[in-house]
Amino acid sequence: MKKLRSQAWFGGQDKDGFIHRSWMKNNGLPDDAFDGRPIIGICNTFSDFTPCNAHFRELITHIKAGVLEAGGLPLEFPVFSCGESNLRPTAMLFRNLASMDVEEAIRANPMDGVVLMVGCDKTTPSLVMGAATCDLPTIAVSGGPMLNGRYRGKAIGSGTDVWKFSEAVRSGEMTPQAFANAESAMSRSPGHCMTMGTASTMASMVEALGITLPGNAAWPAVDARRARLARMSGRRIVQMVRQDQTLSQILTKQAFENAIKVIGAIGGSTNAVVHLLAIAGRVGVDLTLDDWDRAGRDVPTIVDLMPSGRFLMEELAYAGGIPAVMKRIEHLLHLDVITATGTTMRDRLAEAEVFDDEVIRPLSNPLVADGGLAVLRGNLAPKGAILKPSAATPALMQHRGRAVVFDDIDDFKARIDDPALEVDASSVLVLRNCGPKGYPGMAEVGNMALPKKLLAQGVRDMVRISDARMSGTAYGTVVLHVAPEATDGGPLALVQNGDEILLDVAGRRLELLISPAELAARAAAWSPKPRTYRGGYETLYVTHVQGADVGADLDFLVGRRGADVPRESH
Ligand code: FES
Repeated sequence: MKKLRSQAWFGGQDKDGFIHRSWMKNNGLPDDAFDGRPIIGICNTFSDFTPCNAHFRELITHIKAGVLEAGGLPLEFPVFSCGESNLRPTAMLFRNLASMDVEEAIRANPMDGVVLMVGCDKTTPSLVMGAATCDLPTIAVSGGPMLNGRYRGKAIGSGTDVWKFSEAVRSGEMTPQAFANAESAMSRSPGHCMTMGTASTMASMVEALGITLPGNAAWPAVDARRARLARMSGRRIVQMVRQDQTLSQILTKQAFENAIKVIGAIGGSTNAVVHLLAIAGRVGVDLTLDDWDRAGRDVPTIVDLMPSGRFLMEELAYAGGIPAVMKRIEHLLHLDVITATGTTMRDRLAEAEVFDDEVIRPLSNPLVADGGLAVLRGNLAPKGAILKPSAATPALMQHRGRAVVFDDIDDFKARIDDPALEVDASSVLVLRNCGPKGYPGMAEVGNMALPKKLLAQGVRDMVRISDARMSGTAYGTVVLHVAPEATDGGPLALVQNGDEILLDVAGRRLELLISPAELAARAAAWSPKPRTYRGGYETLYVTHVQGADVGADLDFLVGRRGADVPRESH
């Protein structure tokens, strides 16, 4: 076995070795803790403010037990916990900050391998991004989804039913009291959102990439099999250190392509696009939006989960989980990739089986035949935009309509329910200045609420276009991540009320139907709005954030910098 990294701290018999060991001994560690056994850093995103990860103090005990059983020394370290439900203005603003925290904490500390404790949406990409930059042996353990929500005898899904209930209240079909009662029925156990929202998509993504043990995505947070998986992951990371199996050996281009296909098959969140691109950028794999479209094309959505379908993560677990999904589409996958188990994906899937064809549907009866996330281009999105076919209304995927433009989120909120707003069911709602720089942080506001007067007429979906993201639990014919963003002078900034817009998902087109001369004249007349930022991280972010089309990472964070730090601290 190659000399352990941690021995550069603990292996010396000099002043520095004394300092590193002596202070650690104040925790009760014996002499043999430093005898060359693998030291495993456990990166914990526990926070009471991140309810989806609030059970991690319990979960970590199982990881630590596994590390000890395999002869390693587990040492926990906390990092920025990027929780979705509370952070303002949006958790996405802080994904890159959290990733920086993770990277620097891994590199600066004496660890040989890392366990990433991930759960709520951004906690997964931020930790994987930071770890990928350092490239030590790494395994991820997701916290698991909540048990199914249940309200008035019916299953309800995190997020998805919030959007439905809130529209029902706005259209008068649900009372405010019933709305309030549904709150505690929706989130009734530890864990993250149990729809196929962003958290479940991220948990599935890391499993499809091969950086977790099989079964990571679906077991509920409170299922004993989640604790067992944590324990086995603790054991496995010690072996990965002994085998020097680094993250970059697993995160190959083929592994990314597998993840893209699995995300299509599960009807995964559109947020996966920016996160996977950012992770690829950190590890040094050349992955583009076009790869998304190419690899995801023709992948059927076979997992019938909300928001696209009917069921929730608990049912997916009982139906066989992600291994069963991957087994069903194995003809589309790269099966020779090496995974965190130390074996190939082919070996991992050998025993996988589908136990419920309603939840994981046969290829002959998919939920959506072409379910991969669609990448659209055209004069309205020269650098791309995305749409999730499985969440869209088929009749709207080929659509021409007149734009109703909102200049920013405040403008939208002020006018959307104005009875005088000139809008009908065929209109295209356009929201801008909500991208990475515009919001700032590219908030999940792209699934704009429909005008109240149209809801009252029974309209339930319209084409909506923005440079924002949308919650993975949301649905609708929603074009997102338009790049370049309006704040950077992208064509979205040039749309005027009444302009005709063409959406053609099959042809992958998004066009503003005005002449090139008119578009050029508007571009020449455009100037950026004066903006002020509050300083601190927000200013650092808007100065350096890249476009959604390349993952919205900070430009100086892209790349694999490794974990070497030759210089001592004293
Ligand atoms: Fe944390 Fe949905 S809010 S996973």
